[in-house]
Amino acid sequence: MNYRHVFHAGGFADVIKHIVVARILVHLHEKPAAFRVIDTHAGAGLYDLTSEEARRGGEWLTGIARIMQARFSEPVRALLKPYLDIVRAFNPQGPALVAYPGSPLIARALLRPQDRLAACEVEPSARRALIDALRKDRQARVVDLDGWTALPAFVPPNERRGLVLIDPPFEKKDEFERLAKGFAKAFAKWPTGIYMLWYPAKSRQATDQLARQVAQTALSTEPAGKCLRLEFSAAPQTADARLASSGLLIVNAPWTLQAELKTILPELEKPLGQGGAARFRLERARP
Ligand SMILES: C[S@@+](CC[C@H](N)C(=O)[O-])C[C@H]1O[C@@H](n2cnc3c(N)ncnc32)[C@H](O)[C@@H]1O
Repeated sequence: MNYRHVFHAGGFADVIKHIVVARILVHLHEKPAAFRVIDTHAGAGLYDLTSEEARRGGEWLTGIARIMQARFSEPVRALLKPYLDIVRAFNPQGPALVAYPGSPLIARALLRPQDRLAACEVEPSARRALIDALRKDRQARVVDLDGWTALPAFVPPNERRGLVLIDPPFEKKDEFERLAKGFAKAFAKWPTGIYMLWYPAKSRQATDQLARQVAQTALSTEPAGKCLRLEFSAAPQTADARLASSGLLIVNAPWTLQAELKTILPELEKPLGQGGAARFRLERARP
């Protein structure tokens, strides 16, 4: 396995994904009942933006660095506050950024005392770093288990409320298929959970097929779930390896999420655009 998330930490795709994670967890705070976050491909947790790798990747410079400097309208500032407060908490010396929190640390920061996090990471050095970042944390568990095995095994959680984040590295050719199948297995066991699936948007055919399959699974299981599709393009896709667009499929999204994203996303187009404004698509995925 070659994938190391530090090269991409804090890039536009992380920013979009983590804003959505934060909005979903804020929504789950509305009821006092406990929830669980299951992060099947968790990463190292905290990324050193001053490291050789982060500097070489440089994605955070056109991602979170720009967001921290952008001026947002009052409603957008309020919606982004939970996420940006977490990023600021990991950069107490501010304003220059030196660290970026990955999904397990963002989720951890938004747990209340009754809530729990289970995070799977199989790459040994990333797992060690994540264990360090969550050391002695009684609410968060780092699991040395393949995320694809954990996905159906960990649902439904005891709390019967929560979010499953599926964010594989897409190093293997069959990862789109695995994502659709992994989701289907988990959803069959827990159709009322909230699921968030991340994907790179390079091939329209592959992404459309994934969205159709996930929407079909969500609709055909009882109780039927709805699937929201968000794609964000920071730049037109070129032939080089750099990712220009990424997508999220969100099943059983909180009812407030679509309207919140409609407010937030237009104000991200300018700061996250690379060589022109970025563009987004937000729609209901259909079978
Ligand atoms: C895209 S990164 C995760 C980023 C993280 N979710 C975030 O948003 O901060 C994918 C991670 O999955 C790990 N990984 C790869 N295959 C895995 C598997 N089968 N089970 C669990 N983790 C895996 C990689 O080592 C990598 O750290």
